[in-house]
Amino acid sequence: MKQRILTGDRPTGPLHLGHYVGSLANRVRLQDEYDCYFIIADFQVLTDHLKDTTKISENIRQIVLDYLSVGIDPEKSTIFVQSMVPEIAELTMYLSMLVSIGKLKRNPTVKEELAAVGIKENEMSYGFFGYPVSQAADILIVRANLVPVGEDQLPHLEQTREIAKKFNHLFGNVLPIPEAKLGEFPRLPGIEGQKMSKSRGNAIYLSDSPEEVAQKVKRAYTDPMRLKATDPGHIEGNVVFAYLDAFLKDRAELKDLQNRYRAGTIGDVAVKERLTVILNEFLAPIQERRREFEAKPGLIGDILNAGIKRTREEGKATMAVVREAMQMDYKKILNK
Ligand code: TRP
Repeated sequence: MKQRILTGDRPTGPLHLGHYVGSLANRVRLQDEYDCYFIIADFQVLTDHLKDTTKISENIRQIVLDYLSVGIDPEKSTIFVQSMVPEIAELTMYLSMLVSIGKLKRNPTVKEELAAVGIKENEMSYGFFGYPVSQAADILIVRANLVPVGEDQLPHLEQTREIAKKFNHLFGNVLPIPEAKLGEFPRLPGIEGQKMSKSRGNAIYLSDSPEEVAQKVKRAYTDPMRLKATDPGHIEGNVVFAYLDAFLKDRAELKDLQNRYRAGTIGDVAVKERLTVILNEFLAPIQERRREFEAKPGLIGDILNAGIKRTREEGKATMAVVREAMQMDYKKILNK
């Protein structure tokens, strides 16, 4: 039997190059070897986007298109929407009894997210506070063995493991203890050097046009110490070189560009123009596939319906053993 993987995304907007390098490329590779489940975590959007729920549905559609266009294959992998699998909400209820408020309060990722939206801990909703428990249910509902994630998700995974261990300790060996699988590549910075994110407006999206890509690359942070193209430049901390490293397949050319930049024999404008070409060549076939998928009526709905159905079957099987282990299946009194 193949090992099972679960990971996913919040539908807060289209996916960008950071998602590709940090996660999507890896998923495409993993889907042959593993039984993959990809969750579109719409409950999680409510933690900090409660006022614009109108965008969630279109964002879900866009994320599925992003997945398909990079090569996630719904014949091999299961794509589903979190809230459409009610067994997840049900499992969340049971799991919520297995974690203390003290533990949840110490979750560094939740703290950071709270700071990012600028609300005080006491004003945070119960759902926001508890979403790591719901995320544990996302993982445990399909009994995943591996969870490919970025570093920011490690506290959630640790919490998931603790919850699963506690469940097993109390009720018997029911839930597999999942493991994190960190990506091999360092996080791709946003164009101005900070963490790439939608809210900072510093991301290059998989769906950006060649002109948008060119404009964004023009704004990219390079070496602030370098005033003239003939000054020796630094490639460390240089966003253009971080992107070249991630997307330039010809490693000899990369070495050559790095050497010339360090020596001061190539300017910022030239390396940015080269990067623009490379990114647009990378994005062109992805966008071509995206247009093909988009043109097929009903395709997204069919993929999601099939994925939701498959995940619910797994979820029902998990809930049956969870309830039985907890002696909460009430077979006797319900004449089953
Ligand atoms: N929290 C993840 C993110 O923001 C998305 C997510 C939801 C997830 N449920 C998950 C990731 C389960 C891995 C496993 O990116």
